[in-house]
Amino acid sequence: MMDWTDRHCRVFHRLMTRRARLYTEMLTTGAIIHGDRRRLLGFDACEHPVALQLGGSDPRDLATAAKIGEAFGYEEVNLNVGCPSDRVQDGRFGACLMAEPALVAECVHAMKRAVDIPVTVKCRIGIDDQDPEIALDALARGVIAAGADALIVHARKAWLSGLSPKQNRDVPPLDYDIVYRLKAALPDMPIIINGGIGNLGEAKAHLRFVDGVMLGRAAYQEPWRLLGADPELFGEAAPHPTMKHVFEAMVPYIESELAQGTRLHSITRHFVGAFHGVPGARAFRRHLAENGVRSGAGVDVLRDAIALVEDRVVAPIAA
Ligand SMILES: Cc1cc2nc3c(=O)[nH]c(=O)nc-3n(C[C@H](O)[C@H](O)[C@H](O)COP(=O)(O)O)c2cc1C
Repeated sequence: MMDWTDRHCRVFHRLMTRRARLYTEMLTTGAIIHGDRRRLLGFDACEHPVALQLGGSDPRDLATAAKIGEAFGYEEVNLNVGCPSDRVQDGRFGACLMAEPALVAECVHAMKRAVDIPVTVKCRIGIDDQDPEIALDALARGVIAAGADALIVHARKAWLSGLSPKQNRDVPPLDYDIVYRLKAALPDMPIIINGGIGNLGEAKAHLRFVDGVMLGRAAYQEPWRLLGADPELFGEAAPHPTMKHVFEAMVPYIESELAQGTRLHSITRHFVGAFHGVPGARAFRRHLAENGVRSGAGVDVLRDAIALVEDRVVAPIAA
């Protein structure tokens, strides 16, 4: 998620679930091809399995960027056909590509030829005045014919004029049924549903109709929910029993990053929702906010913040 997630966040999330697939924020082909690749694409080995999301609409550039991502060790490359920001529309990629299913298929085809890792697409159900029944079907059938390995559908339209990107994540109504119907019509294609899924109980309910569930804001804002993912969705033990154990496991990574010049706050900013609803959570947040930004702040700041909260075992799935 652009401006929110980064590699530090993914390390944190990986300590709560071994099985969930993590995605990078969208990176444009231009940035990857011409920018500082190590900074943009580098990630810690513990993050696997991790997918690289690309923004672009030039098949050749997408193929090049996908190849670079594969060489960096990503397990999957995903094409963004859902981002509604103006910046993205100017570049003719993101959600506006819902109007160009043939071009999206061409992009997927070029990426598939370039790499051996799975190529997937994340889309909306339509844009503006499109009939979503037609638009989603056309996009899905095009990318399947081009060899896409899975389709992630954010189950609402993007309205490209008049709404901000933030509004475009809340205002157009969710339509989960259209995603379920798509899966029923295309049983061999892995379909992953996204949008407004607030907890693992809801995720489980969707899994009766589709192959996978993607959590965006719930995972970021209330990351503790991820501790339930492996037991509830994969039938395996959680990597750690409580959030306090997660943070203890995070310390060596933080120390190694601090030694390389990363500032504590760049990592701890992702911890804001870690103890959501737990007594002491506010004191934890305040301690990190006040002390984590000081120059030279070290792991003691985190340890002191953690000491302010009660710990508890993973919450029930629908909590
Ligand atoms: C701050 C922010 C940045 C986002 N950036 C991306 C992005 O880079 N790529 C993408 O596919 N979706 C992005 N999204 C959309 C989410 O992935 C997701 O589709 C959307 O928030 C709906 O799912 P949710 O209700 O689970 O959050 C972003 C969302 C937010 C809140």
